[in-house]
Amino acid sequence: MPLSKKTWLEDDQRRRQIDPADPETAAADEAFFGFERVQAREKAERVLKHFNSVAAAYDFMNTLLSFGIHHAWKRAGVRMLDLQAGERVLDVCGGTGDLAILAARRLGPRGQVVIYDINRAMIEAGTHKVRGRTRSAPIRHVQGDAERIAFPGRSFDAAMVGFGIRNVVRMRQGFAEMHRVLKPGGRLMCLEFSRPVWPVFRWLYDLYSFHIMPFLGELIAGSRKAYTHLPESIRMFPLPHELADMLRQVGFRRVDYRSFTNGIAVVHLAVK
Ligand SMILES: C[S@@+](CC[C@H](N)C(=O)[O-])C[C@H]1O[C@@H](n2cnc3c(N)ncnc32)[C@H](O)[C@@H]1O
Repeated sequence: MPLSKKTWLEDDQRRRQIDPADPETAAADEAFFGFERVQAREKAERVLKHFNSVAAAYDFMNTLLSFGIHHAWKRAGVRMLDLQAGERVLDVCGGTGDLAILAARRLGPRGQVVIYDINRAMIEAGTHKVRGRTRSAPIRHVQGDAERIAFPGRSFDAAMVGFGIRNVVRMRQGFAEMHRVLKPGGRLMCLEFSRPVWPVFRWLYDLYSFHIMPFLGELIAGSRKAYTHLPESIRMFPLPHELADMLRQVGFRRVDYRSFTNGIAVVHLAVK
């Protein structure tokens, strides 16, 4: 069935995005960029291009498009990680560093946060926020791919990924890498978008995401394409129970999740 342009997907359509390497669902070297089926390498290139084009306006657009609510979701996610002073935390797909800054405040000066992101433009767009904070843990940047995290195993107490795993070509591999670099007992927090629960709210959200969001994206960030891809990728993303299953499959235990704002955003917590 061809993918519909302006709605949520059937389970089988969404499953192809969950595991593009599954021989029953798609060829191993394929992935989805929004609703579009592309070669895995092409998805990686398009994701890079996408964030290059939005980096400068990224923080402003996030706040505008979410009416500022993304800050509350991020605060809740970091709070749920229950960070302790002195811990070492990895912010995978950390971008401009919102989660990292919130985490650093909770860790105190003896803690440490690493923002790990593949895109230099996104890292640079956030450096001014990360610099010059006192009484927080130091934050450093490492540029690299979430599918091959450049740290030895068992090196972090906690890992976070906020609105990032959707963009990783092999999502399962990304989670497996987060599992690898966590110490035994280490915690993972994943914050992502999901499907609103109430049908009427979902209808309004669809209207907003497929019409208003791309319009504002073009007007303010200069890219209609980037803000068309965003709602599509959200609709391709696993539902909360599907994501919880994936986390268990890569080895996490005590997997739990909590929905916010009628299910628009979901925080998953898991333990290695
Ligand atoms: C939507 S932004 C989220 C940024 C930040 N975590 C936040 O919550 O605002 C997604 C980030 O994931 C990064 N990203 C995409 N694919 C990646 C990969 N394979 N490895 C590491 N980072 C990746 C992008 O460069 C981008 O900065």
